[in-house]
Order: sequence, then structure tokens, then C-alpha cells
Amino acid sequence: MNKITIAIDGFSSTGKSTVAKQLANHLGYIYVDSGAMYRAVTWYAMQHHFISNTYFHVQDLIAHLDQIDITFTFNPNLGYAEVYLNGKNVEKQIRTLEVSGFVSQVAEISEVRELLVKQQQKMGESKGIVMDGRDIGTVVFPNAELKIFMTASPETRANRRYQELLSKGEQVSYNEVLHNVQERDYIDSNRKDSPLVKAKDAIEIDNSNLSLEEQFNKILQLVETKL
Ligand code: CDP
Ligand code: CDP
Repeated sequence: MNKITIAIDGFSSTGKSTVAKQLANHLGYIYVDSGAMYRAVTWYAMQHHFISNTYFHVQDLIAHLDQIDITFTFNPNLGYAEVYLNGKNVEKQIRTLEVSGFVSQVAEISEVRELLVKQQQKMGESKGIVMDGRDIGTVVFPNAELKIFMTASPETRANRRYQELLSKGEQVSYNEVLHNVQERDYIDSNRKDSPLVKAKDAIEIDNSNLSLEEQFNKILQLVETKL
């Protein structure tokens, strides 16, 4: 059977990565979490004191981009690939609310985007890939056979992310999470380079009232029409 490229874009915590992993497992495709790559660059910038609440040394980060090596390694116990930064597994470090607080500023930098988009396009050269993010259907894979644009109300999304962070033992409040989700929505949608917009040929799915199973079945039906 011919393999296709599936691009899943949308706002934070709409369930993109959950459904992308399910689809990749079901179809035997590669799953790539492009947001994890922006988060890994952000973690690197934090570790090297290029970004904090009071400063952002953009030029220093740009000068160090050639020292950032991001790879994915499949973890059979989890059923998906985890992200490594310069050889170290950083899955846990990059998912915190602190990283979420800086990542949209890092993702605004064109040099960062250029580097990561090139790597993402290389990963999708042979098709058979599900990638989720903000610019996958518009910039990374404009010719993807299936493009999905996921939405849900900000409150629904913040509540989902809040529950997720609590379950990982992070001490956060619902209001902090809601603020972060709304701030990232704004920066991601309004930046000059590759803003978060629905591709003309993307299918929009509002999953505010859909369970994980319902959203998976809905998208799988769309995949089957493309295959
Ligand atoms: O999981 P969540 O939706 O919260 O975020 P993510 O997918 O991990 O992405 C984190 C951030 O990376 C986003 O808020 C964007 O600023 C940036 N991003 C991007 O600019 N382009 C992408 N293709 C993916 C993520
Ligand atoms: O990748 P993205 O940030 O779009 O979202 P995610 O990490 O896949 O989902 C964020 C959280 O929302 C996870 O805990 C999902 O299980 C949950 N979720 C849900 O409960 N119902 C949905 N229809 C979609 C996501």
C-alpha cells in the first residue's frame, strides 16, 4: 500500500500528539513530535543561560545552533520515539511549564525554524510519517496528502494540560496553565515566520467534546479515504 504523509497542526493541548502516536502505531508509520524539537532548543538555551525571565540573548543562541543535535529514539516500552539533545534523553526536562513559558519566544526565531524545518523535511522524505506541530501542513509538508487542524476551547485545553502536569507531579495552578496556553496561542498565531494558521486544504476538527477514542476513529476514517 502506498504510504502517505499526515500533518497535524493546531493549538496547544488539542490532543495532536496523542492522536498522532495512535495513528503512527496503527499504520506502522514514524511519529515525529516537532514541538519537542523547539522545546529541546529552548531547554538548551535555558541551560546555557541564553534565556530567562529577565533576558534573552538571541544572537548567542543563534551562534550556538550548530552545537545542538536533536535526535529521536524509539522506546518500545512507551511505543513512541523520545527526544534526545546532544545524546541525552530530555523528555522529562522539556515538558515542564517553565519550558512552555519560553518556547514560543524561541520558536519565533527564523534561524531556529530554518534549522528544524530542514531536519523535519528530511525525516519525512520517504513518507509514512505522522508529524504534529504548528506549521506542518503549511511549511514543512505543504504537499501532505492529509492535513488536520485541531481546535478546542482554551479552557478545555488548559484543563487537559493542567491534569497532565499534576499527574506528573508538577506543582502548578490551573490559572498559570491557562495563561501559558493563551500566551502561546497568541505568539504562535501572530509571529512573522510560519505563524500557526490552518492550511487551506486542512480539515478542521474541534475535539472539545470528543473522547480520545472518538477523535482517533474520526481521523482514521479520513486517513482511510486517502489510502
Ligand atoms: O504540546 P503543546 O501543544 O503544548 O506544544 P508543542 O507541540 O510541544 O509545541 C511547543 C511550542 O513549540 C509551540 O507553542 C510553538 O511555539 C512551537 N512550535 C512551533 O513553532 N512549530 C512547530 N511545528 C511545533 C511547535
Ligand atoms: O499534542 P497536544 O499538545 O495537542 O495535546 P496532547 O498532549 O495530545 O493532549 C493533551 C492532553 O489532553 C492529554 O492528556 C490528552 O490525553 C488529553 N486529551 C483528552 O483528554 N481528550 C481529547 N479529545 C484530546 C486530548
